Parts: sequence; C-alpha cells; structure tokens
Amino acid sequence: MEQYIIKGGNPLVGEVEIGGAKNAALAILATAIMTDETVTIENLPNVRDINVMLDAIKGIGGKVERVDVHTVKINGSMISDLLVDYEYIKKIRASYYLLGALLGKYKRAEVALPGGCDIGSRPIDLHLKGFRALGANVDIHHGLISATADGLKGTHIYLDKVSVGATINIMMAAAMAEGKTTIENAAKEPHVVDVANCLNSMGAKIRGAGTDVIRISGVERLHKTEYSIIPDQIEAGTFMFAAAATRGDITVKNVIPKHLDSITAKLLEIGCEVEELDDAVRVVASKPLHHTQVTTLPYPGFPTDMQPQMSVVLGISEGTSTVTESIFENRFKYVDELARMGASIKVESNIAIVTGISQYLGARVSAPDLRAGAALVIAGLAADGITIVDDIYYIERGYEDFHLKLKLLGAQVEKVSTEKEILKFKLKVS
Ligand code: UD1
Repeated sequence: MEQYIIKGGNPLVGEVEIGGAKNAALAILATAIMTDETVTIENLPNVRDINVMLDAIKGIGGKVERVDVHTVKINGSMISDLLVDYEYIKKIRASYYLLGALLGKYKRAEVALPGGCDIGSRPIDLHLKGFRALGANVDIHHGLISATADGLKGTHIYLDKVSVGATINIMMAAAMAEGKTTIENAAKEPHVVDVANCLNSMGAKIRGAGTDVIRISGVERLHKTEYSIIPDQIEAGTFMFAAAATRGDITVKNVIPKHLDSITAKLLEIGCEVEELDDAVRVVASKPLHHTQVTTLPYPGFPTDMQPQMSVVLGISEGTSTVTESIFENRFKYVDELARMGASIKVESNIAIVTGISQYLGARVSAPDLRAGAALVIAGLAADGITIVDDIYYIERGYEDFHLKLKLLGAQVEKVSTEKEILKFKLKVS
C-alpha cells in the first residue's frame, strides 16, 4: 500500500505548473466518441480517473491512441457495444457521461447504475429526467440504466437543482437531437463551458454555456476536432491553499485567474496577498492568517471540491471560522483525521465550526476521498513533525505527480510503500 510521508513545517516557495482539468476531461473524452472521425485531445491530465475513462471507451469498442502522456486520439467509428459495464462505473461515476454521448449518437445506451459514494448519496435523477424529456425511454433494471429512443427531440428542460453532471450529460444528448433544446438552471462551471466549446468545435450548436440558460440546436452529425482542455481550477486552488497553510509564496502557473475568483477572495479575506498575472496567480502568506465564513455553492460560488483544503487552512488561522457545505451531505469525513493532528473542529449538521490552533502536529492519517486526501497532505506540510497519509490512491485519482510538484516547491515528501522506505525518509529528514 502506497503512502505519502511528509516532514512538515517549512514554507513552500516557488512555481508550479497546473495540468488540464480532470472534470472537464472526463466529459470531453465521452464527447470524442460522438463522431466517427478522429478527435485529438490535448492537455489531458495523466491521472487515474482519466485512465479508467479511456479503458471504458476501449471497453465499448472505441479506439484510443495515446500520442504522448497528455495527448490522446480517440476514434468512435468502431463502437460495437452500447453497454458500459459496472467495472468502470464503480471506479468513476463520471463514466455515466457515456450515457449522454451514446444516447445522442446511437439513440441507445446502457450504463450500470452508479452506486453511492463517500461524499454523499449522489442521485442521477436529473440526468434521467433530461433524457426522458428529450424523448428517450429510460428504464432501470438489474442495476442497469437503459435509455432508448426512436429519435431524440429538442425540448425545454428545467433542472430543479444545479447539477454539473446533469447539465453536461443532457447537453451532450441534446447536441444530436432533432430541433432546439433549452436547459434552464444549468450549471455554470468552467468545465461545462469547456465541454460545450469542445462540442462546438465538433460542429455542435450550443450557446449560453457559462450562463444558467443553455440553448442547443441539434445537429445530425459531429466531426473531428483537436481540442485542448482548460487548466484545472481545483488543482490550482489546492496549491494556492498549500501556500497559505505553509506560510509560503507560490506562483501557480498555467491557470485562468478568473476561474479562481472565489478561492482568491477567501485567501484575501484571511490575510494572504494574491497577485493575478495573465495566466498565473501568486499567493504569499507572510502575515498571520485569520478566521472567516465560507459556504460552498455552485460556480461562481466557492467550490465544494475546495472545502476540505479551506478547512485545513482555517484550522491554523486565528479565531473561529465556519465552513458550510451546501452541495454534498457527507463531506466532513476528514475532520476526524484532522483531529488526530490536533485540529479543533466541531461538525454540526452541514456546518464545521473551526477554532484555529497555532500548528498541526504530524500524525498518521487516511485519505477518505480525493479532495480531503489532498487537504490532509496540506495539513501534513504545515505540521510540526512527520505525517503519514494512507490511501493515497484517492489523491492519485485527480492529482498528477502531486508529491513531485510539492517537492519542487521545497516540500519534504516522498511516496513510500515499505517500512524500510519510511525509515530511510525519517533518517534523511532528522
Ligand atoms: C461534479 C464534479 C465534482 C464536484 C461537483 C460539484 C465531476 C466529474 N465531478 O460532480 O467533483 O464536487 O460537480 O461541483 O465533474 N444532484 C441530484 N440529482 C442529480 C444530480 C445531482 O440531486 O441527478 C445533486 C447532488 O446530489 C448534489 C448536487 O446536485 O447535491 C450537485 O451535484 P452535481 O453538480 O451533479 O455533481 P457531479 O456532477 O456529480
């Protein structure tokens, strides 16, 4: 079992390059099978979830050619199987994007029903409501979602709740429906816009992505494209918070600063300096940090995927803060782990009340999910002494070369899997 071992306590200083957005990439890979021509996707993050999605595409007969570590060519002309197996869905829920893609292209798809997950119950009723509104028959039987249609017809869809996944899935199917579709109360996340831009570069007619009303005029056919994925807002935010937690000075490069506005705003509020450059942001934490209130909200609000990292920083900022989670009901699992490092956090319903302490103390902790795992690494980097983070499998689902990028910023961190390696690290840093 691999772990990160960290000797904390020194400020992270330097520059870090951000990769392509995982959540945009997962959906864009699904759109690539919607044409029979070859689609080239660049700036693809080399992380576990992406590799599972590529396997899922191969599993249904798509051709996947890895041009280099961050570029892939996909050809969906030979797709022979319209069933996406549970094997993939259980590893990444986002393989449900193949439902919208296959339904749009072939008017038929079967995808295993995603189960629950560590951060909440995560229903997909809105996705299915959208497919039904487009004229598909959607059935759930023996753990499979099966969607079929003689032809999809454009329609008006109002989403009761803002959902990134439902917005993207419905947008994909509607891109190849007959006539016009309007999605109201759509998600506005940067990756929704990125998926729409990619589809438009394939010949789709989608307007309004990035606002809460998306209008789609269906087309019969999509064609090849070469598309480069936007930078990952959450990877960038994670390094920005690593600068704050370690009282460091990090320039986060290859980002779209506008996408980071809500994160930047919170860092400024607690006392960091943030400098926005054209495609970079620099975060300097040279003064004592103080408390604030934060509530997670759909974009442009503060992202739920940054909530654990925010709590980690507030846990060592002066005063009492509150962190309200309004998107997922079970996203405070890391709090017990952080308590092992000395944090003083009380969770009441969906609110964490965080009382700042002067410093975390290194301990052995487990990553409960992807973002919480990254947050625990940040805590370890800020802590006095040695921290071991177990279950880093979760972190590697979404962060490429996380510990290597941290090392370039001066972190003392290694990926280890044996007692011998742990001892070697301890000797090195003592
Ligand atoms: C995506 C992101 C995830 C991020 C989340 C919120 C991907 C692969 N994952 O997840 O990292 O944390 O957006 O920004 O892009 N809901 C329903 N019914 C549905 C769909 C969603 O009730 O059919 C609810 C969810 O339970 C949740 C809220 O809507 O409370 C938002 O979820 P959604 O935006 O759909 O999240 P995901 O797309 O799953």
